[in-house]
Amino acid sequence: MAKAKKSYSCNQCGAITTKWSGKCESCGEWNCISEEIIEAAVPKGLSASHKGKKIEFSSLNDAQGRTIYPRFISGIAEFDRVTGGGLVPGSATLIGGDPGIGKSTLLLQAVAALSAPPDTPLRSNELKDGTRCVYVSGEESTDQVRMRAARLGLDQAPVDLAAATNVRDILASVEDPANPVKLLIIDSIQTMYIDNIDSAPGTVTQVRTSAQEIIRHAKARDMAVIFVGHVTKDGQIAGPRILEHMVDTVLYFEGDRSHQFRILRAVKNRFGPTDEIGVFEMAGEGLREVENPSEIFLSQRASNAAGSAVLAALEGSRPMLVEVQALVAPTSFAAPRRSVLGWDPNRLAMIVAVLETRTGLQISGCDIFLNIAGGIRINEPAADLAVAAALISALQNNPLPPETVFFGEVGLAGEVRRIAQPDLRLKEAAKLGFREAFIPANKNKKPPHKAKAGEIRISEIDHIQKLADLFSSARPAVRAV
Ligand code: TYD
Ligand code: MG
Repeated sequence: MAKAKKSYSCNQCGAITTKWSGKCESCGEWNCISEEIIEAAVPKGLSASHKGKKIEFSSLNDAQGRTIYPRFISGIAEFDRVTGGGLVPGSATLIGGDPGIGKSTLLLQAVAALSAPPDTPLRSNELKDGTRCVYVSGEESTDQVRMRAARLGLDQAPVDLAAATNVRDILASVEDPANPVKLLIIDSIQTMYIDNIDSAPGTVTQVRTSAQEIIRHAKARDMAVIFVGHVTKDGQIAGPRILEHMVDTVLYFEGDRSHQFRILRAVKNRFGPTDEIGVFEMAGEGLREVENPSEIFLSQRASNAAGSAVLAALEGSRPMLVEVQALVAPTSFAAPRRSVLGWDPNRLAMIVAVLETRTGLQISGCDIFLNIAGGIRINEPAADLAVAAALISALQNNPLPPETVFFGEVGLAGEVRRIAQPDLRLKEAAKLGFREAFIPANKNKKPPHKAKAGEIRISEIDHIQKLADLFSSARPAVRAV
């Protein structure tokens, strides 16, 4: 047999090197390089020119004439929305998130809901023959999982539970033609190992091969599988990026641990839209669905405070109102502080620069604190206008009129640009009793939204100067130094 080839790779970022070192040159992490066998020895009698078997081709339309394919619907609306309308049989889903954010709790609730026979009050299932569900934990003992289930009131759900880490054993145990497993949960993929590979669980080869093996098994048997994946300190799913390519759906479970809100976000989905989110609240008895996040995110807003603006954001197909809070204070340092929670600091620097250059407001010499209330993260540029309004209001110590919302992207010239789906955002704002919306101007159309959005008044803003003029007052509270 030819000798197996070896290389060294980083468990955190997947970078490959030819020799071992204590620190990964690529991501800077220490003690994360491990030896990998990259090319298995070729068995005798099998050459590289070995001819393969013929595979069978089939047509795109279904032989049975199906146009709608079954999905496993959990009945947890927020979970089903993010998976694109339920889990697809034979699909692999990866769910990542910080430790302790609630991945195991979420999956236990989902698996309990999916396992319940269709006519129990727990849920209704599209698959009428019942769904055998298996939950394999590599991190907790069965008793620990049971304890959690009892706490969540799910101890009666017919879930098959196991504490195991050997992939071969797991796959052998779920193989039962008489009672096929429809859903397999692996918590977590970093604890799994295949015994013929000579590296520790959690290393790149182990994670990749274990996942590959499980996915192959699942696809051949129409079994859906969900992996929990650990994340590195900068929020990526640990291990090789290839894991994200291998699965059909990648979900991130995120949130600030000191807040009770959790967001389940789809970043890749072969069977549904991405950027869809599900909002949950972590309570004493597990995760609770939040049907109307806007109401909760705005519930503690002090409507008369300077520096607070309401943003009509859009997460996937879902409009959501959140509060942007800004505080502008005189600095006592040579370099003023910028502290941002829930938004991109670079974007804040840009808005500050645009405000200062295009409107003449003296702001860059001050300490600036920006916070998206409720511990949620906003990524879209539509927040620019709300941030600018909050900054102007904070700088002038002039509260914005209550019951107003903002959205729009701000360009470097100070122009306010249009963004996606204004109608959806306006509708949500009107539903929650907002009376006025400041939105980007649209030259091609008359404000179209009035009729549809109810009584909400539309004020179009084409340049940031207009915003500054509207909300400036003669009461400057902060003077830049
Ligand atoms: P867990 O699901 O174990 O997190 P992960 O699997 O992502 O590491 O969640 C653990 C956290 O959730 C823990 O900090 C306590 C909290 N929690 C509740 O607040 N209520 C509950 O009912 C449960 C089960 C957990
Ligand atoms: Mg866990």
